[in-house]
Amino acid sequence: MRYNFLNESTVGGLDSNGMLPDKATIVTEIYAAKLDDSGQPITGEDGHFVPDKLLVHAVMEKRQGWGDLVPSELRNGDWNYAVFKADKTLKEGVNQAACLACHKPLHDADYLFSYQALVDRKQ
Ligand code: HEC
Repeated sequence: MRYNFLNESTVGGLDSNGMLPDKATIVTEIYAAKLDDSGQPITGEDGHFVPDKLLVHAVMEKRQGWGDLVPSELRNGDWNYAVFKADKTLKEGVNQAACLACHKPLHDADYLFSYQALVDRKQ
């Protein structure tokens, strides 16, 4: 289960090029789904799984120049990635290459899987 949170820079939405501004930050809280006695996920009244324990925070942040630190075959514009534990301390040993590689094909959507939700929000 995931909940996405946007910081103040991000709340302004997409610029005229359809990209998020510098200093945009997206924090995704990732929860385990609550399970019933037989180990199946419980579905709530809204049709979604019910969140149980907070596992990690996956974070994307865009800062001018950060892309220069990333090899071009992995570069996601100026985005960088990190994972924070449930207690909000940095999770060490995360290989950001995996994050960059999986989000990379979404270059026309500013590397965001939830891009359409941002577009819809703007209207
Ligand atoms: C195998 C592919 C894959 C990898 C690897 C991956 N992601 Fe993602 N990421 C996704 C998908 C798919 C979504 C959309 C999930 C959803 O909306 O339920 C997503 C969504 C996100 C979002 C919310 C913004 C958005 O794009 O919708 C953040 C933040 C994020 N990922 C961070 C990370 C971080 C940090 C890493 C590396 C530790 C990472 N991702 C690695 C596939 C991946």
